[in-house]
Amino acid sequence: MTARSKAKVAAAIGFSYAQKTGRRLGGAPELTLRCDGVDLSQLAERYGTPLYVYSAAMIRERLTSFQAAFRGVPHTICYSVKANSNLNILRLLAKSGCGFDVVSGGELDRVLAANHRSAARVVFSGVGKTRDEISAALKAKILLFNVESESELSVLAECAARLRSVARVALRVNPDVAADTHPYISTGLHAHKFGVPIVEARRLYAKVAEAAHLKAAGVSVHIGSQITDVAPFAETMTRVAELVRELRNDGHAIDYVDAGGGLGISYQKTPSADSSSQADFPKQVAAYAHAIIAPLRGLNVHLLLEPGRSIVGAAGALITSVIYRKANGGKRFVIVDAAMNDLIRPALYGAYHEIIPLKRPSVIETEGLRNDAPRTEASRETVDIVGPICETGDFFARDRALPTVKEGDLLAILDAGAYGMALSSNYNTRPRPAEIMVSGKSAKIIRRREKIGDLLRAER
Ligand code: LLP
Repeated sequence: MTARSKAKVAAAIGFSYAQKTGRRLGGAPELTLRCDGVDLSQLAERYGTPLYVYSAAMIRERLTSFQAAFRGVPHTICYSVKANSNLNILRLLAKSGCGFDVVSGGELDRVLAANHRSAARVVFSGVGKTRDEISAALKAKILLFNVESESELSVLAECAARLRSVARVALRVNPDVAADTHPYISTGLHAHKFGVPIVEARRLYAKVAEAAHLKAAGVSVHIGSQITDVAPFAETMTRVAELVRELRNDGHAIDYVDAGGGLGISYQKTPSADSSSQADFPKQVAAYAHAIIAPLRGLNVHLLLEPGRSIVGAAGALITSVIYRKANGGKRFVIVDAAMNDLIRPALYGAYHEIIPLKRPSVIETEGLRNDAPRTEASRETVDIVGPICETGDFFARDRALPTVKEGDLLAILDAGAYGMALSSNYNTRPRPAEIMVSGKSAKIIRRREKIGDLLRAER
């Protein structure tokens, strides 16, 4: 296979425009947005909107990139379930040899429901694990508890003693490393609620060693999410490596280092490059792997990685229809049928998501999904894309130059596979969207659209 044809194969995975055969729009051939081989307009027609659509191929490919980047060292990828916890996605990942990072009893139940044998590859993180959650995880015989406080350590010892089991422990240390990301999702500084200060770690590991039902097995860390510069990861691992040496000197058998998640993705596509940003991913993950692995060299630890967003983020889009257009004074609004309850990232973090029409006239330059890519039609306008919810914060884009859309048109909000559906709610009594998994040329519903009845049932 030539490099060129390889690039073409890579470009076919995920979301890209393809020419619709046999149809013409104003003389120019029409392009339609597809997920892998499947026309998204047809999915929207069949399943309605708003609609989450995921590419199974891209999820697999991203996991494979991680596995390849870390293949030189013993490792387990523990996908962070919170990013997208749909059972079908967990099943797909489990089948490809993935483990899981869970932060609640509910997430553990999901993992066990997806694949009972995955328990041996589960790590349990979180600052507020309850006795019930801890006991369920002990009964399931998970791999590792990432313990975040001295109090949690005592409760874990008590639960393990009661169940006559031994809990493998990694203390989550707070390395006091700053990561350049949104303040709500940065976690590695002392000012944050996460982990125990790295300077207190040795004292706490001594406590672990004294407890008959606890076994010190690793060190864990997680400095934040959507981090695109790999330097803070390297700095963190340098501190962790130092701690591992000290702990081993103190007599603890530290076999695991859990490096957490956090590798960012590019939400703003550059011209000509949806294909190339996909092709860039193996390079990005290789740089990340180098930053993590280099400081640990010689320690012979089993690495655990907890990626969430970087596995599923780019593999999902939220499809929505334009309900109305309106202008208030000089401002133009496009009101769509998706809202902040379906995808809260713009409202919560001011996050940017690329928004593109499902149909557009053909242009000479068809690579890339960005809206300012060269186009034949002149019709562009600056609009706010907003949802129907009664809050000014209910927007997907503000003052964004987009191709002009009319009522009834379909749009795709890209990179919505991570922290999209997972953070959705029923605010304004809005039933949550359906979710579709595209696998090759077929599409399957992996979560049916909620009905109002589903929402009212628990209150009757
Ligand atoms: N491990 C731990 C302990 C975490 O707290 C997180 C994310 C991850 C792994 C996965 O991080 P990732 O690889 O996905 O960056 N809702 C926010 C992101 C919150 C991240 C919370 N913790 C967003 O939409 O940007």
